[in-house]
Amino acid sequence: MTTTISKGARQSVVAYAATAAAVLLLLMVFGLLMRASQAGGLALPADLFYQVMTAHGIGMVGIAGMCGAAIMWYFLGHYVDLSTKIFVLNLILFLVGVVMILSAIFIGGFAGAWTFLYPLPAKSGGVWEAGAAALHLSGVLLIGVGFLLFHLDTGRAILSKYGSIGRALGWPQLFGGSTEEAPPPTVVASTMVLIVNVLGLLSGASILAISLVNLFVPEFGIDPLLGKNMIFFFGHVFINATIYMSVIAIYEILPKYTGRPWKANKPFLAAWTCSTLFVVIVYPHHLLMDFAMPTWMLVMGQVISYLSGIPVLVVTAFGVLSYTHRSGLKWDMAPSLLFLAAFGWAAGAIPAIVDGTIVVNLVLHNTQWVPGHFHTYLLMGLVPMVMAFMYYLAGNAGTGLDRGAFWAFLVGGFGFTFTFLWAGKESVPRRFAEHLPEWMGIDALGAVFAALAILGVVVFAVRFLGRVGHLVKA
Ligand code: HEM
Repeated sequence: MTTTISKGARQSVVAYAATAAAVLLLLMVFGLLMRASQAGGLALPADLFYQVMTAHGIGMVGIAGMCGAAIMWYFLGHYVDLSTKIFVLNLILFLVGVVMILSAIFIGGFAGAWTFLYPLPAKSGGVWEAGAAALHLSGVLLIGVGFLLFHLDTGRAILSKYGSIGRALGWPQLFGGSTEEAPPPTVVASTMVLIVNVLGLLSGASILAISLVNLFVPEFGIDPLLGKNMIFFFGHVFINATIYMSVIAIYEILPKYTGRPWKANKPFLAAWTCSTLFVVIVYPHHLLMDFAMPTWMLVMGQVISYLSGIPVLVVTAFGVLSYTHRSGLKWDMAPSLLFLAAFGWAAGAIPAIVDGTIVVNLVLHNTQWVPGHFHTYLLMGLVPMVMAFMYYLAGNAGTGLDRGAFWAFLVGGFGFTFTFLWAGKESVPRRFAEHLPEWMGIDALGAVFAALAILGVVVFAVRFLGRVGHLVKA
């Protein structure tokens, strides 16, 4: 049974979406500056390049989380009783955290990348002071606390309606032969994200706290490999969860156009249960180059890389095709963007599977192949899901201008991500402020495509922001 959500709840979702539109655009411009600088067209000094890279990385991961949270919360609120106060608190903590992070980066000079790899924050070689690192890590911690509260509230609401995590994941229907109707896809997805993100956030908060103490008491340390495991477990789970939250837009919005409700059937429930486990144990694929890691973990990283995203991806991509096929759906902006998103997400998983193979990883890993993979599934998967949500919220079917923006985004976005993959194939290292002249042609092409994609997003964002006043009053 669904209920409508309150006006206050709707307004706070609009506030999230408006923040997301503005922040995504700003950070995309940061990305363009980096790509243009690698192409030699714009000479960002190295220290500024790494500051921009840190702001772009941590900012994009954080705002992707906020986008996912907004989509999940909006639709989950139709099935369970969520707290608007906690939702708004998460936004406030996020904004305060962003101010702290930006100050640490652009005033304090912190440039240790979004992965804040232990013990790098404390070992800047004189580039930044301990205070700047502390401000940055505290900002990230504050944002993490906001997300933890957000998920605990969704957990409370889900448990009070469904009684147990197993029931919310549809286990009685999957394993127990129950003939009752399974929970809706949104509840199943939100429960999976609840489990994985709480684990990830706890790991992230622990290593952030340890790194903070280490800044001022260097004798208080942790095994760097354990620290790296904790960071990559948190980072991998958190960024994956952003897409698992955003995919709810496909399950909820597409049926409004096809007239075919998205049902949580047995393959769907099995896929989400498998992915719950896989997302948690696949993270060692980020550590395949760390020879000191136990071999069994690396082998698990490779094997699970082949399986991890596949169940949910397959049921979603197959579902998108079967639900839209001969449905007579009208290709407004929202369904068009969702269709593109399903493709972008699926396409982005392929380079990850290639890179998750140990022998390939040893050659490919620290190249631009990796940003090629994650920009494909985030820029061409997550971003169109978020933009579709904005068109849906605004009730905007789209005009010729929006269609033009759609094609600019599609061509620019895939062109841009392709230049990263191409550069990876040419062994161009990632995270290099300065590139060799023979790489700059690919970089320049990447910058042109990126500018085209950003032009598309400008139209999407401006169209949404132009309706915010109306949406808040409605
Ligand atoms: C048109 C849009 C975008 C442009 C032009 C852009 C550009 C870039 C560039 C040039 C890099 C550095 C690549 C290198 O290692 O050499 C980068 C890294 C990164 N980008 Fe983007 N990006 C865009 C969109 C996004 C989106 C939508 C996300 C996520 C939602 C994202 C997340 C990241 C992350 C996490 C990094 C890694 C930073 C690091 O290595 O520490 N980017 N991006």
